[in-house]
Amino acid sequence: MAVRKTRTSDLQSVLDVLRSYHFKLLDPVNGGVVDENFGDIISLRNHACELDLGNAFVAVHGDQVVGFAHYERQGETTVKQTLMSVLPEHHGRGYGVKLQKALMDEAYARGAKKLITATDNPKAKAWYQKKFGFIVIGTEPVRHRLHFLRSGDRIIWGIHYGFPGEKTLSIMSCDLEKFFDGRQKG
Ligand SMILES: CC(C)(COP(=O)(O)OP(=O)(O)OC[C@H]1O[C@@H](n2cnc3c(N)ncnc32)[C@H](O)[C@@H]1OP(=O)(O)O)[C@@H](O)C(=O)NCCC(=O)NCCS
Repeated sequence: MAVRKTRTSDLQSVLDVLRSYHFKLLDPVNGGVVDENFGDIISLRNHACELDLGNAFVAVHGDQVVGFAHYERQGETTVKQTLMSVLPEHHGRGYGVKLQKALMDEAYARGAKKLITATDNPKAKAWYQKKFGFIVIGTEPVRHRLHFLRSGDRIIWGIHYGFPGEKTLSIMSCDLEKFFDGRQKG
């Protein structure tokens, strides 16, 4: 089991991992939707999130990419985790924890003091709380996010539409100094 920075050549496998977590690809050039079923979209956020593979990690099982985590900077000392997904058939094997640790290590090493994330998945919410000490700092109605990713001269668009039926997004925060300080003290 390994976690490493994402490479350009991982692109298709990363999209497969994201698809398994309700991420639908759009194809504006050919007139719309690559993946079907947008029935669960409630509303879109008013800005798109750029996926930068330089700010991302993959989990690898043999030579298969089975997990992906991405973050973006939000000011001097805050980072936002925008995507976190492990293929369902590999859940519960420690990949998520390893990915999350790699992301938090890098964000902290780059000067971040606070890590924010948002989830509409009750299981993930409990996981962030138990394993990493996240606290819920607010809730808001689910609004889905448009993402885009540059690949050479192509731009790939997708919508992350979350969990069917979930209407509340929990906004969560992790105090990285507290987390790493606690870890040093054992
Ligand atoms: C959330 C997610 C990333 C977790 O990844 P994972 O690889 O299944 O998690 P891991 O196997 O690394 O986690 C194992 C640990 O978490 C604990 N755990 C698992 N599910 C838990 C839960 N619902 N609540 C609390 N702890 C939980 C396990 O007991 C285990 O702890 P241990 O290390 O002390 O034994 C994964 O389930 C996922 O991709 N879900 C769908 C997408 C999603 O919701 N993403 C996050 C929101 S943006």
